[in-house]
Amino acid sequence: MKKRRTILDMAEMKQRGEKISVLTAYDYPFARLMDAAGIDMILVGDSAGSVFSGYDNTLPVTLEEMLYHTRAVVRGSEQALIVADLPFMTYQIDIPDARRNAGRLIKEGGAHAVKLEGGEPMAETIRAIVDIDIPVVAHIGLTPQSVHRMGGFRVQGREEEQARKIMADARAVEAAGACAVVLEAIPRDLARQVSESLTIPTIGIGAGPACDGQVLVIHDILGLCDKYSPKFVKRYADIADTISKGIHHYIEDVKSGQFPTAEHSFK
Ligand code: KIV
Repeated sequence: MKKRRTILDMAEMKQRGEKISVLTAYDYPFARLMDAAGIDMILVGDSAGSVFSGYDNTLPVTLEEMLYHTRAVVRGSEQALIVADLPFMTYQIDIPDARRNAGRLIKEGGAHAVKLEGGEPMAETIRAIVDIDIPVVAHIGLTPQSVHRMGGFRVQGREEEQARKIMADARAVEAAGACAVVLEAIPRDLARQVSESLTIPTIGIGAGPACDGQVLVIHDILGLCDKYSPKFVKRYADIADTISKGIHHYIEDVKSGQFPTAEHSFK
């Protein structure tokens, strides 16, 4: 049995200057593959809403759906730290609600930490969850649950005022006790300044190379998502094509009677 990574390992990796590798997963087979490959952290992201369930954004995702995905990912992993997203409206209403829902992801889902979106305005909520011994990963910059306020999925922090706010958000979530912070779609120089200013690890997505770790959505890097692909995604495989060829081949075999043969049936 392999030793499971912890939030202390993530902190030590930052101190040693070792980059933290993170991918999203929503199910057992992908969790198994990335865990076996040695991924440091798996994020059960509410991006499941877009890439797994086919919604236009993450807003409709429910806590029950996140619990379902989290349990599958935990069952498929042995060594990665599992972080589960708190979906929209499961932590914004009040602190008892946020604590209860974070607790469910840990107790019923088996996650080791939760992630929530927001900076300074969420500091009190982060503190309240950390105070009941649940590690929190914060998420600032482009926060997909704020898609309507932002007027779309846009790079954040390009203007000076916005950049100052992002730096203040980063300091506030660290002071509130977050164990790491995701920096999404912000200019690389700003991400560098944030990463150098904080003692907790920064995990970048579209935030350049200076972050302490990197996260991407698994469906994006494997070419499984034919919707819009952001500039920051690097594609490492095209498995949609492989899957599609396999399915076509199966249909042809069934139609032509080439499957099943004696080899696939019983005497
Ligand atoms: O939901 C998600 O997958 C995320 C990452 C994109 C950081 O929040």
